[in-house]
Amino acid sequence: MAHFLNDTIAKRYKGHVAIVRIDLNIDKDSVEGLYRLRSAVPSIKLLRKHDVRVVLVSHRGRPNGVERQLTLKPFAELIKKEIGESIKFLPTFDFEELREEISSSKDSVFLLENIRFLRGEEENDVRLAKQLATLGEVFINEAFAVSHRAHASVHALAKLLPSFGGLQLEKEVAALSGAVKRAEHPLVFILGGAKIADKLPLFKHFWKEADIFLAGGGPGNTLLAAQGIPMHDSLYDKELVPHVKKYAFAAKVLTPSDARCDGSKLLDIGDGTAEEYAEIIHAAKTIIWNGPMGLYEKKAYAKGTAALWNAILNNKKARVIVGGGETIASLSTVKKNPTSMPKNVFLSTGGGAMLEYLAGEKLPGIAVLK
Ligand code: 3PG
Repeated sequence: MAHFLNDTIAKRYKGHVAIVRIDLNIDKDSVEGLYRLRSAVPSIKLLRKHDVRVVLVSHRGRPNGVERQLTLKPFAELIKKEIGESIKFLPTFDFEELREEISSSKDSVFLLENIRFLRGEEENDVRLAKQLATLGEVFINEAFAVSHRAHASVHALAKLLPSFGGLQLEKEVAALSGAVKRAEHPLVFILGGAKIADKLPLFKHFWKEADIFLAGGGPGNTLLAAQGIPMHDSLYDKELVPHVKKYAFAAKVLTPSDARCDGSKLLDIGDGTAEEYAEIIHAAKTIIWNGPMGLYEKKAYAKGTAALWNAILNNKKARVIVGGGETIASLSTVKKNPTSMPKNVFLSTGGGAMLEYLAGEKLPGIAVLK
């Protein structure tokens, strides 16, 4: 069982330094980005309330060495606004210098540069973790979205210090635990988005438990291709086509029956499909959604995704779990503020992490919090 941050734990570290892993792998101007960032704020505030100094650690993108455009520097200002306290950005990885800076600074909150600039991060390198561990006395994982990665600042570091899950991590675990295994039926999965290879294994994972799969976006197109419908320039995964035939013809898998297109490119589900999917959503008792139905960023292709959001927001009886950056960002098709959601709808900060957790896999970043 993981242990989570609370008042008692925060008090215990008064005057000390907490290393807090957060996830700034976001577009800071997007609805989803702000949602992810804001979800880490209560943990930071709780630590600060008890005079714990905080070193924030995050990755951004998948850099190969130092890639200046992926610096975390612009996030310092944004975090400052959210926590209402000044924050010092630490641009180097000279750990001796960092320790001095942290102990002598007037500031109490620090943001380290993109940790993936260091090769050891993705290698889960113990030497890097040991260096990080010298910066504080306690470790808090408040980055559910990256907890499926056994990386140094998520996993190896947690083994070296007293480690706790953050307040949002606790919410994620509470909302997602048993969501599939103990789901009320009908259990409906909505799978769309562009990352096709990530989604298609989910048909296999949840095949027994799910009553219906509603497919759209890249996964929908790949299933249509498996049914023999030419996909031309549409986004689909040619190599996966032979592997999804079994699902493409199954009664519990619904694929788009009509679509909005640009020339030969299928870019959104059509009105007929949206209506059919909305009816199923209306009757569902559990809904798990990952991946929008089309190119929702363009108004002309946002209708399908918006129709599904409306259907979900109208079903007050179902337990709803929505995850994945694109899916939460697509909430902008119907709503401006993701923090004012109905009680039955949980917006997970995780994409891949959420899906792996739901599939019953042990996430290294959580399993290590003992
Ligand atoms: C995410 O955005 O899902 C997490 O930050 C993980 O990012 P990654 O897929 O690059 O590890």
